[in-house]
Amino acid sequence: MPLDLGAKGSCHIGGNVATNAGGLRLLRYGSLRGTVLGLEVVLADGSVLDCLTSLRKDNTGYDLKQLFIGSEGTLGVITAVSILCPQKPKAVNLAFLGCQSFAKVLETFTTSRAMLGEILSACEFMDEKCMELVERHLKLSNPLTGSPFYVLIETSGSDSTHDADKLNNFLEQAMTSGLVADGTVATDAKKIKTLWSLRERITEALTHDGCVYKYDISLPVGKLYDLVMDMRARLGQSAKNVVGYGHLGDGNLHLNITAESYSHFLLDAIEPYVYEWTARHKGSISAEHGLGFKKKQYIHYSKPNEAIFLMQRFKAMLDPKGILNPYKTLPTSSESNMH
Ligand code: LAC
Ligand code: ZN
Repeated sequence: MPLDLGAKGSCHIGGNVATNAGGLRLLRYGSLRGTVLGLEVVLADGSVLDCLTSLRKDNTGYDLKQLFIGSEGTLGVITAVSILCPQKPKAVNLAFLGCQSFAKVLETFTTSRAMLGEILSACEFMDEKCMELVERHLKLSNPLTGSPFYVLIETSGSDSTHDADKLNNFLEQAMTSGLVADGTVATDAKKIKTLWSLRERITEALTHDGCVYKYDISLPVGKLYDLVMDMRARLGQSAKNVVGYGHLGDGNLHLNITAESYSHFLLDAIEPYVYEWTARHKGSISAEHGLGFKKKQYIHYSKPNEAIFLMQRFKAMLDPKGILNPYKTLPTSSESNMH
């Protein structure tokens, strides 16, 4: 399966495709926009659109399935999916590494790209605040200590000896050049799972920390952590925790802010500042989670008016009565004239 994500135990494939979920292996297998080959969709008028092909190439007319991928259920209900599945890798290794600065995290990523190449299958990061939360709320234990940042690097390939050699060369280089201060490697399935849960269960740990303000931002990878530091300084004592983690290899930051309880004052300090910051740095205000209900009115930070207008016309054509996931994703015409 080309898609994997922390929510794997409870999510559904229709929802994954409808939100164009990115997950943990986009770096390796690409987005669902590439791996979904066909869809069956029930339209608002009850008719069934059968675009359920499994062909790799099909340039006959417009690629209608792309309209539904990432539409958050606002244009149709996905009822069947044809998806391109890669060979299950025979050899999987996971390295969990500690870095002393975000600059070193970035360099570790670049080095992993260069030295692991085709076997690199995931590159994720989390800051020490995330680690504190999974330890405190979920009682998971950190095999490393004392690093402000942690990086997970996974390799998936077909030859365990070849992959282990490559990974060892990379680790030696990362250690001797001082990029990585501490690390552990897992090859057996149980330890791999334990290490992955430190990253996969951050969202769950956050829900135990209080009221959570969640942001899912795409940025040029070099700027990824600047937003977290900026927000931490801006909010000071008014936030309980400001944490950053995410899909380093995809330039996707999950910025989460917790507080004891909901506060309009705190929300006003975060928004629209976080969206302005993101737009100024040429990012996207929703990398993989969609706009939903809470963020639809901020779409103009990431899309020009002409694009929003065309989206509204698609919506009006495919769902004239507004019965499909109403009030989500797109602003109404009056809300969209903010820029
Ligand atoms: C994750 C979810 C929040 O990456 O997208 O953990
Ligand atoms: Zn994510």
